[in-house]
Amino acid sequence: MMMRSVVLMLVWWFLCGICLGKFLVEKNILKVTSPESLKGKNECAIGNFGIPRYGGTMAGTVVYPRDNSDACKAIKKVKEIMEKKPGGLPIFLLVDRGECNFTMKAWNSQNAGAAAILVVDYKTEPLITMDQPDEASENDDYIDKITIPSVLISKSLGEKMKKALSDEEIVSVVLDWTDALPNPDERVEYEFWMSSDTTCGPKCDSQMNFLKDFKGSAQILEKTGYTSFTPHYITLYCSGSKTSNPCATQCINKGRYCAPDTVDEYLGAEVVLENLRQACIFRVTNESGKPWLWWDYVTDFTRRCSMQEGKFSKACAGQVIDSLGMAKDKIEKCMGDPNVDEENPILQAEQGSQIGKGPRGDITMLPTLLINGVQYRGKLDRVAVLKAICAGFRETTEPSICLRADMETNECLDKNGGCWEDKANNITACRDTFRGRVCECPVVQGVQFLGDGYTECKPSKSSRCRINNGGCWHESRDGKSYSACPEDGSEGCKCPPGFKMNAENSCEDVDECEQKLACQCPECKCNDTWGGYECSCSQGLLYIKDQDTCISRKSVTKSNAGLVWLLVLGLAALVAGGYLLYKYRIRRYMDSEIRGIMAQYMPLDGHAEPLIHSSGDI
Ligand SMILES: *[C@@H]1O[C@H](CO)[C@@H](O)[C@H](O)[C@H]1NC(C)=O
Ligand SMILES: *[C@@H]1O[C@H](CO)[C@@H](O)[C@H](O)[C@H]1NC(C)=O
Ligand SMILES: *[C@@H]1O[C@H](CO)[C@@H](O)[C@H](O)[C@H]1NC(C)=O
Ligand SMILES: *[C@@H]1O[C@H](CO)[C@@H](O)[C@H](O)[C@H]1NC(C)=O
Repeated sequence: MMMRSVVLMLVWWFLCGICLGKFLVEKNILKVTSPESLKGKNECAIGNFGIPRYGGTMAGTVVYPRDNSDACKAIKKVKEIMEKKPGGLPIFLLVDRGECNFTMKAWNSQNAGAAAILVVDYKTEPLITMDQPDEASENDDYIDKITIPSVLISKSLGEKMKKALSDEEIVSVVLDWTDALPNPDERVEYEFWMSSDTTCGPKCDSQMNFLKDFKGSAQILEKTGYTSFTPHYITLYCSGSKTSNPCATQCINKGRYCAPDTVDEYLGAEVVLENLRQACIFRVTNESGKPWLWWDYVTDFTRRCSMQEGKFSKACAGQVIDSLGMAKDKIEKCMGDPNVDEENPILQAEQGSQIGKGPRGDITMLPTLLINGVQYRGKLDRVAVLKAICAGFRETTEPSICLRADMETNECLDKNGGCWEDKANNITACRDTFRGRVCECPVVQGVQFLGDGYTECKPSKSSRCRINNGGCWHESRDGKSYSACPEDGSEGCKCPPGFKMNAENSCEDVDECEQKLACQCPECKCNDTWGGYECSCSQGLLYIKDQDTCISRKSVTKSNAGLVWLLVLGLAALVAGGYLLYKYRIRRYMDSEIRGIMAQYMPLDGHAEPLIHSSGDI
């Protein structure tokens, strides 16, 4: 009875997948680099097992194992297949589709030493996604151990490669996943579609292991704001009539939201209810600003309330919620009443987002990881997923976790990535990124460097003196600093006043005293200092630097008034002198006149002197 119900659900889902939406095949690029006749880019479909190299590339030489071309049996070591054609490149095995499941082909190829597997489709059709078998089998442990990437290529491309190989040509290809995921910005959005049913076989195991392994990285990325994660839960719709409901025990809300009963005989309704609880826990923790707490709940719940151990129950869920100190009342309010004949807004939203929109396909595989809206293909391995997330950041915006040695190789370590560098000052334009490297003029100590990043980077003009002082001399002594970097942003170096450039392109002090450049007046006493000189004057005189001379302190203090007085006095003296001269001249003239008259009346002996003297008392 239970098995039949499961089948019903899957059939419904399969039909719905066809009628409502689409399953999107995620692709990457296979670039043929030789032979010339095959050169070009081709699309190939990423297999949903093994580890695709999201954000990266892989180069290899193609080998076709003729005697075991479908790779369903163990393959001879690729070294033996290569025989006399040793090559430096890794081997990519070209194998035919059919006969056995895809994972078996990949496993055999990996064991033979191949670095990747290219499966050739057996018919002409649009590319499909190679998936792992759904049904659990005894010996399916190996699927988890597949680490090589796998792609499906079209029949026609495969035929051409086989032809070239049989003509003894070397077929070299590059698998390129650099644009397999969109990487528009500095934040990666990712979703994980899952179910609380952990007993469905290898896929459920991989879901469980992923949640456990990835929790640490997920929480760090979330707390630092680099990612925005949302968990999602697939629910099915009951196709039975509501009166005689064959799915009564598989559904809640009167047949609206269902899940198949589990292998361990838990009811589908219990699974849906736990899914709803987890969806609500995410919403409640997200509202409180700590969405990463969801990871704590799901990993604790899986450990403490394991289905396999028969501990899966509402009561156990309650204990986990309590021990994590979560708001139980809010969670229950969010879940609503599962028995009412009404839609549940949370599950309704989940059902809505299951259907593919825009570039995204329908969610038809559980578990499914979506990164920036694109379905991740491959093994849910912690490092592989982290790499895929790292490939989702716009280059240079990735968090440091993406640049660690176990995540990528630092291309700046090899020849500085071909970028500009100033070895002496340890400044480089090379910036390691997850996808490779970029050559970008850096900002050093707040100074923007400008240039193409490959051949030239220069500190922007206005701030060139702030880096290594623009390459110019500078020195500080006794609290005084001098620099030869021109502050006006002009090129080159120029020694400041008081210094001169020497042979080593440094500036040295000029001895102004010795060179008789200043302080040379007789009263001056010159003392050279670093970057200048000191001049003092003897006898209490004062040194005036502008005139480079010593003057009296007195005359400086009285200066102007004294001058005016001097002028006035001088003028007065002049006037007085002029008057005296005039008077003297008049007297002289009068004397000579009188003498002339007197001489006309009496003879004179030339004794005019005493007279003149006597008249000199005016
Ligand atoms: C896949 O194919 C191999 C070989 O045919 C078979 O042994 C195995 O059971 C199949 N299924 C799984 C899950 O590997
Ligand atoms: C989680 O919170 C963010 C920001 O508060 C919001 O934008 C986002 O829609 C929330 N997600 C869900 C599923 O509620
Ligand atoms: C150069 O700079 C880098 C980072 O800026 C630093 O890690 C490194 O130690 C520096 N090397 C030298 C020789 O100063
Ligand atoms: C010259 O100046 C230096 C530093 O200011 C001082 O130590 C020294 O005594 C001075 N010499 C004379 C002769 O004034």
